Amino acid sequence: MMTPAPSQPRPTPMDRAPRDPAAPVAGPGQWSAPAPRFAPGEAPAHVALIMDGNGRWANQRGLARTEGHRAGEYALMDTIAGAIDAGVRHLSVYTFSTENWRRSPAEVRFIMGYATDVLARRTAQLDEWGVHVRWSGRRPRLWKSVIGALERAEERTRGNSVLDLVMCVNYGGRAELADAARSIAAEAAAGRLDPARVGERTVARHLYLPDLPDVDLMIRTSGEQRISNYLLWQMAYAEMMFSPVPWPAFDREALWDCLLEYAGRERRFGGAEELVARPGAGGDGS
Ligand code: IPE
Ligand code: IPE
Ligand code: MG
Repeated sequence: MMTPAPSQPRPTPMDRAPRDPAAPVAGPGQWSAPAPRFAPGEAPAHVALIMDGNGRWANQRGLARTEGHRAGEYALMDTIAGAIDAGVRHLSVYTFSTENWRRSPAEVRFIMGYATDVLARRTAQLDEWGVHVRWSGRRPRLWKSVIGALERAEERTRGNSVLDLVMCVNYGGRAELADAARSIAAEAAAGRLDPARVGERTVARHLYLPDLPDVDLMIRTSGEQRISNYLLWQMAYAEMMFSPVPWPAFDREALWDCLLEYAGRERRFGGAEELVARPGAGGDGS
């Protein structure tokens, strides 16, 4: 690791004053503090975020839950800029789950409308930063306006390769696996695939974004310690981090703290190493 972890934990920005959610965000390289720098392989290539805690953040301030979603816009843009600075290549953000339809019609309506707005207002900025916006999720039930906004953003940013921003909208890990199973079954039934040859690679090829690499680091904000049906296949060996900070108060420095902690972790992927010295191999000639 080339940048030491901060000796004092940074103050939790829990009580930071709400900002204008649509305010311009300092771009990559424009922050007062430098981003941590990592040796090759020390930074996660794929970070998956569960942006949780919007509603509680707002309610604790006497505001409606929807104000928390609004405040999350700035946090998202700031975190994307920080991810670019730290060399993260893929950033997946859980925006709306297949279970979030259980919320009140008013909240669902707000989230759908706001997602469309954010994409319309922020895509030019993301394009300038070299971000390729992509969508992962299920088409049925998702509002046409949201699908349209996602497709327009994807189309405009298709040529960018600094960072892939994967917006998980109407996304569920089980839905993704069930959809993959259905299309594998259809190919087998049509005689294009030998069922005996279905393996992990077959499943991976039938996911929503087959080229998306496995998640290296999953971060969930707001103190909840669960994965809520997120990227189940891709997170098989992800490192997990749970931040107490509610999503509207998360920012690029909070992300950098997580990346520094990640760089200090040891990943084994099921392997093992003998760490006890063999008797007689003490190097003293005995
Ligand atoms: C995450 O914040 C945003 C979405 C799920 C869309 P929440 O809305 O879940 O906020 P809490 O967890 O209820 O505080
Ligand atoms: C997960 O958060 C989904 C998103 C952040 C979009 P939830 O708030 O919906 O998850 P649960 O219900 O607390 O597990
Ligand atoms: Mg929540």
